[in-house]
Amino acid sequence: MQRNIGIVLFIFAIPIMQVILSCMASVGDLTGLKIAIVNYEANYTNTSYQACQHPPLCRFYNLSCRYLEYLNDAIQKLYYPDPKSAIEAVKNSDVHGALYMSDNFTDALVARWALKSDVDEETLDQSEVKIWLDTADQQIKITLQQDLEGSYEAFFQDLIVKDCKSDSERFPGNPLSFKELFNTQ
Ligand SMILES: *[C@@H]1O[C@H](CO)[C@@H](O)[C@H](O)[C@H]1NC(C)=O
Ligand SMILES: *[C@@H]1O[C@H](CO)[C@@H](O)[C@H](O)[C@H]1NC(C)=O
Ligand SMILES: *[C@@H]1O[C@H](CO)[C@@H](O)[C@H](O)[C@H]1NC(C)=O
Ligand SMILES: *[C@@H]1O[C@H](CO)[C@@H](O)[C@H](O)[C@H]1NC(C)=O
Repeated sequence: MQRNIGIVLFIFAIPIMQVILSCMASVGDLTGLKIAIVNYEANYTNTSYQACQHPPLCRFYNLSCRYLEYLNDAIQKLYYPDPKSAIEAVKNSDVHGALYMSDNFTDALVARWALKSDVDEETLDQSEVKIWLDTADQQIKITLQQDLEGSYEAFFQDLIVKDCKSDSERFPGNPLSFKELFNTQ
């Protein structure tokens, strides 16, 4: 009987500990984290710099650039020329995650919002922010995932609700698509 109570307490403690751990994954932990960025809506220059401008207010151009501005400053952003080399960088432990947006990201995202459930496969695919995360360290994975999701939410609220003065329900669908990569090293 005594031992059963111990086991029951232990089973209940696991999800509680997971919640505490994910709450502890806060901004401070992002220092030293690196993410590989591939944005085909802008031209590749080098690892440390990519020209990526977008107009202000309620205008739908270069939304990839606008989203990237919301990523936490504590995360080091490294630019890569193509998804293949960015994924390779995750596998080699050079970065903790990789993020890719297509050359048609803005038009596809706007079309996705407009078409709602009638959206076609190609538009869905082109509007995705594809993210590969290294699963070697769960704490880092959760921290990065939460920050990327929070960044999208902030980007969306500023663009759609604040600047476009629209209802968020009229722009459904979260374009973030998370894929996991096991570290091979
Ligand atoms: C990328 O560079 C090419 C050649 O200089 C230019 O024609 C094109 O407009 C540029 N694209 C973007 C998104 O800046
Ligand atoms: C990357 O490109 C920018 C803009 O051309 C330049 O200012 C910077 O020095 C370059 N950095 C490296 C490491 O080559
Ligand atoms: C989109 O970004 C490219 C690359 O920075 C820039 O050349 C272009 O002027 C931008 N378009 C708009 C409408 O801001
Ligand atoms: C870009 O997306 C728009 C909206 O989904 C679509 O009409 C257009 O054909 C796409 N362009 C390319 C080059 O795929």
